[in-house]
Order: sequence, then structure tokens, then C-alpha cells
Amino acid sequence: MNQNATVELGPQARVLPGFAASAARQLLDDTLAIAQQSPFRHQVTPGGFQMSVAATNCGRAGWVSDRRGYRYDPVDPVTGQPWPAMPHSYHEVAIVAAQRAGFSAFQPDACLINRFTPGARLSLHQDRSERDTCHPVVTVSLGLPATFLWGGTRRSDKTRAVPLTHGDVVVFGGVDRLRFHGVKELPEGHHSPAGPNRYSLTFRTAL
Ligand code: FE2
Repeated sequence: MNQNATVELGPQARVLPGFAASAARQLLDDTLAIAQQSPFRHQVTPGGFQMSVAATNCGRAGWVSDRRGYRYDPVDPVTGQPWPAMPHSYHEVAIVAAQRAGFSAFQPDACLINRFTPGARLSLHQDRSERDTCHPVVTVSLGLPATFLWGGTRRSDKTRAVPLTHGDVVVFGGVDRLRFHGVKELPEGHHSPAGPNRYSLTFRTAL
């Protein structure tokens, strides 16, 4: 894994630029294999809005949103089957990145895979569907570049725009675990080998 300098977002939040670059091709291949079993879908928020990102999951549980709320579910509601197992490439990069950012005991059991196409975005939110937020969140970016918005502990806090490119990893936990964050509308573009897409792989200990 790449050992470039890290970018500090907070006392316990880091960007690891290019950290997953050498694993990116395998991660992309594994992402497409997951999507053949559990296809990308546009989930609906509890408020009834269809999300602009398309999502799937792998691991012991998947993050699901519908009119009933947000939750982790061991079964994919589209296929009626358990989510695909977490590939070795995924597990490895998440654990090593977490270690690099100071979280040596991270054991992810869930990975939410978001696919952004140009125009897709994620509005500011906190990650708080997990049973215990003492564990960090690790996100790997693949494909088109995006602008990550890093906020404070209140929705109204000022945000910092953080450019993320293919192979970058963000880790946040501890005192920074509940910071608001989002992704700006994805600009038009084409990436080889990811095409007109950005994938974010977000690892969490959910259960
Ligand atoms: Fe999030």
C-alpha cells in the first residue's frame, strides 16, 4: 500500500492519498462481481426521495434505506438473499488503512458501495445507523474525482472541500466519528478503467 503523507481532517480523521491505488484494479473487479449478485439500486429515503447515488453492499449486513427508515439488514431486499461476502481485497485495504490512521483493531463487517454518476451527490449527514459508533469509518474512492465535504458536529458548521481521487482513502473515528460529511455533485468525466463513475466503498463495523 502507498505510504504517501496523510492529510489531517481532525484529531482522529485522515485522508490517505493514493493509499489504495495499487489495489484499485482488483477492488474495481471485485466491485463489479458484487454488483452481478446484488445489483446497484437507487434507494429511497424515509422522506420518500430517491437517492441520486446507486448503492449495493457486501459483508454480513448491508445499509438499507426505505420509507421505514435506515438500518443494516443481513438480507438484500432486492434479491431476498444474503449480501455477497466481503472480498479479501476489500477487507485487507480497510484494515490496513485503519491501522495507518491509528485504528489498529478495526474489524469491518459491512461495506456500503455507492456508485456516483455525473450529477449524483450525497447531502450532509452523520453516519449513525451502526450499533456502536466507537468504531471508525473507512472510505475508499475509485474512479472519477469528487469533492468530499467535511463538516463539524452540527449540520450548520462550516464545511471544508476535500478533493478525492482514484485510490484515496478517508478514515474517521473517535472524536471525529460523528462529524457531518457529504459529497458535492459529481462533475462530468470519464475515468479509465471505471468509466463515467465514481465508486465509494465505505467500511463500518455495523453489528
Ligand atoms: Fe456517510
